[in-house]
Amino acid sequence: MANELERLISLHDASNIAAVVIEPFAGSTGVLVPPVGYLQRLREICDRHGLLLIFDEVITGFGRLGAMFAAQALGVVPDMIVFAKTISNGAAPLGGVILRREIQEAVMQGPSHLSELMHGYTSSGHPLACAAGLAMLQVIEEEDLLQRVRELMPHFQEIVHGLSDAPGIVSIRNFGLAAGIELAPDPEGIGRRGARTQAAAFARGILTRAPGDTLVLAPPFISTPQDVQRMADALRHAIQDTSNTPP
Ligand SMILES: Cc1ncc(COP(=O)(O)O)c(C=O)c1O
Repeated sequence: MANELERLISLHDASNIAAVVIEPFAGSTGVLVPPVGYLQRLREICDRHGLLLIFDEVITGFGRLGAMFAAQALGVVPDMIVFAKTISNGAAPLGGVILRREIQEAVMQGPSHLSELMHGYTSSGHPLACAAGLAMLQVIEEEDLLQRVRELMPHFQEIVHGLSDAPGIVSIRNFGLAAGIELAPDPEGIGRRGARTQAAAFARGILTRAPGDTLVLAPPFISTPQDVQRMADALRHAIQDTSNTPP
């Protein structure tokens, strides 16, 4: 897979490519987990061709893999990390970017009378959102949430993979506290079964995302193994319900 990047570079030439942007695992497309060594290989290729490697850690940042960032969990250091969501527990809209020092210094070298990196967002540095972010960082630390996630991860993996004998399962993938449960599509079209099962799960009190026919689970960090088991049981019923009902 990483060779595809080499192919693109030889097609367009590295001088025409600024950066490679990637999610450490693809969340919104149904929890697609990278092959072992894939991100390390991207790092090598980017270094060899002088390209920046940017991790989109909007889903993985701030604990979902049992480390503050996927970069740490996976041992690959990107040049930039973009983040949002968990930083404020979703309670206030907040996002940000982390840069390597050299990039920050390059940006700071402009004329002293100009802003270093002019952004015109209405809500930049919003005090309420920043307060929520600081509070979340404090909660992560005080409640030892990374350790809690690490302890829950093996239970989550076992419980979620326990659904493999539910009807119409194509594949079950998990990474940290995220899982994608892929269902065989209805003959009527891709996405219909996913949408029906998502609605059936919601009726049973479980909120999932459903890209295509994959149900994505991302439980709260404070979940217990019993909570996760309840989620899986409800999901099994939802999957059973929609495997019998006509679309
Ligand atoms: C991985 C990932 N990146 C980026 C975004 C978009 O983030 P924002 O709405 O903060 O721009 C999302 C939104 O779901 C996401 O899941």
